[in-house]
Amino acid sequence: MKRPAPTNREKVMKDGDFLVSKTDPKGIITYGNEIFIEISGYQEDELLGTQHSIIRHPDMPKAVFKLLWDRVKNKKEIFAYVKNLAKDGSFYWVFANITPDFNLKGEIRGFYSVRRKPTKKGLDAISDIYTKLLSAEKMSGVSESEKLLGEILKELGGTYDEIIMSLQK
Ligand SMILES: Cc1cc2nc3c(=O)[nH]c(=O)nc-3n(C[C@H](O)[C@H](O)[C@H](O)COP(=O)(O)O)c2cc1C
Repeated sequence: MKRPAPTNREKVMKDGDFLVSKTDPKGIITYGNEIFIEISGYQEDELLGTQHSIIRHPDMPKAVFKLLWDRVKNKKEIFAYVKNLAKDGSFYWVFANITPDFNLKGEIRGFYSVRRKPTKKGLDAISDIYTKLLSAEKMSGVSESEKLLGEILKELGGTYDEIIMSLQK
């Protein structure tokens, strides 16, 4: 499927809405709730069976997704601010909690993401951080961007989880 050209038009999540999706262990979408499908602008059958990167926005740094996958493949959850790209080229920010889903043997059988509306404080801080990470990535690659993220967190005085959770309060 052809990738939409990003525009400056923003769709804003409603207070109290939850966008939910589930994937298989490889990140292929197996379920999306109604609001998740609606805001993406795709039809349900265009999303199901497709890689979750179908809604990846080019403004998102690779380092964030690397951290996300490192965490969930290691059976841990992660919270992250994510800028997504809708089918019509518009964007929408979410605050996502991504968790692994286990079978009875404790093996990963897929992943869940539950997203709510990000706080203004969170978006202000994170847009600036993502711009810096993206520019580091473009100039020197993802390992430089990961290094920079570490430095930014150190300067802010907390771990990734501490800083992210404090921004959403
Ligand atoms: C449960 C789950 C939900 C995800 N949700 C999103 C999402 O909303 N937007 C997004 O860009 N990537 C999401 N991802 C990450 C994508 O799988 C992918 O790593 C990312 O879009 C980067 O794509 P790329 O590695 O092809 O550049 C999600 C992954 C999982 C496991």
